[in-house]
Amino acid sequence: MTDIAAAVGTPFYVYSAATLTRHFRLFDEALDGMPHLVCFAMKSNSNLAVLKLLGDLGAGIDVVSGGEYRKARAAGVPGERIVFSGVGKTREEMRLALEGGIRQFNVESEPELDALNEVALSLGLRAPIALRVNPDVDAKTHAKIATGKSENKFGIPIATCREAYARAAKMDGIDVVGIDVHIGSQLTQLEPFEQAFTKVADLTEALREDGHDIRRLDLGGGLGIPYERSNEMPPLPVEYGDVIRRTVGHLGCEIEIEPGRLISGNAGILVSSLIYLKHGEGRDFLILDAAMNDLVRPSMYDAHHDIVPVIEPAAGAEQSTYDIVGPVCETGDTFAKGRAMPLLAEGDLVAFRSAGAYGAVMASEYNSRPLVPEVMVSGDQFAVIRPRPTFDEMINRDTIPVWL
Ligand code: LLP
Repeated sequence: MTDIAAAVGTPFYVYSAATLTRHFRLFDEALDGMPHLVCFAMKSNSNLAVLKLLGDLGAGIDVVSGGEYRKARAAGVPGERIVFSGVGKTREEMRLALEGGIRQFNVESEPELDALNEVALSLGLRAPIALRVNPDVDAKTHAKIATGKSENKFGIPIATCREAYARAAKMDGIDVVGIDVHIGSQLTQLEPFEQAFTKVADLTEALREDGHDIRRLDLGGGLGIPYERSNEMPPLPVEYGDVIRRTVGHLGCEIEIEPGRLISGNAGILVSSLIYLKHGEGRDFLILDAAMNDLVRPSMYDAHHDIVPVIEPAAGAEQSTYDIVGPVCETGDTFAKGRAMPLLAEGDLVAFRSAGAYGAVMASEYNSRPLVPEVMVSGDQFAVIRPRPTFDEMINRDTIPVWL
């Protein structure tokens, strides 16, 4: 890590190719025996190198914007392995995916269905779709990332979706292929999945009775990861796979899942260095060169990330508690409060664990701090997969109008 830091400068993200591979395979193997496609939710990590690595392993990709669609294609993933989710797809995005090739649109509302039908007809095509149903299940996760309750903006209420399917079946630009559900992210129990998938199984049977050829079930993502070493372990992909087999396995459908965090989260860390150790009144601060603009999860969701020295301290080394903060001018720029850490010197490196998902993708240039770079390691080699922009690049992106 020290040599990467010397080459790239801090802060930076680093991802392990081996861990990404292993996590993808865990899901792939968990669905063994059922026809399936594991579609990586690229919103969790959209670096082209990560997409290429997973795409080459046979992964599909779950995209939520025209930008993500273009990136997935640029990484070499064929359209027939891309599913398009999201509540606000524009007509332009629909056209892009229909012309470029798409496995299926996960449609979230009737107005979206009308728009997609129109766009497909204008191109002389039929859009393969699943309707995203909202099963009204409590995912028992952070409120900002729960999506499967009836009060959330996502999906069509499961109780009334038969009418929506009936309408869809009459549209010449629409080909109904399945059902889609996603109830939230960072789920640490299997029970909400079980409830949602059971509802999807019942719905599959009801829709088949109505004459629809339901041949594909997209069960979304959401399986959580351990952020704190001390905490209980969330269920494993193989246990999640068993829930799928038990609830929908008998239906003979092709299964799609959209995991993001479990594939990329623990495959990445954020490396930062200590700028100052500041003694405050009643508390001491470790001021790092990473900030909320580089990793927003602690300020946005009160999320916990383990922060550890890159060079392990000697056993029995002195420890103290610190508030660990960044240099941004906001009190919210706090990564941890009262965290036990060994004594660090200025310039020492620390690693934020479990930062490979929803880390770099949510970074910004707030406080005019250039976007944090990304590195991939594989065996004993590493490659910069997104360089840090230079100050000139950052400054020259803006333009001053001639009349100023
Ligand atoms: N599919 C859909 C339709 C989704 O909305 C999401 C995540 C996923 C799949 C992937 O879920 P995962 O397997 O990664 O849990 N920024 C937040 C997480 C937002 C999740 C949004 N949707 C965070 O940092 O915790």
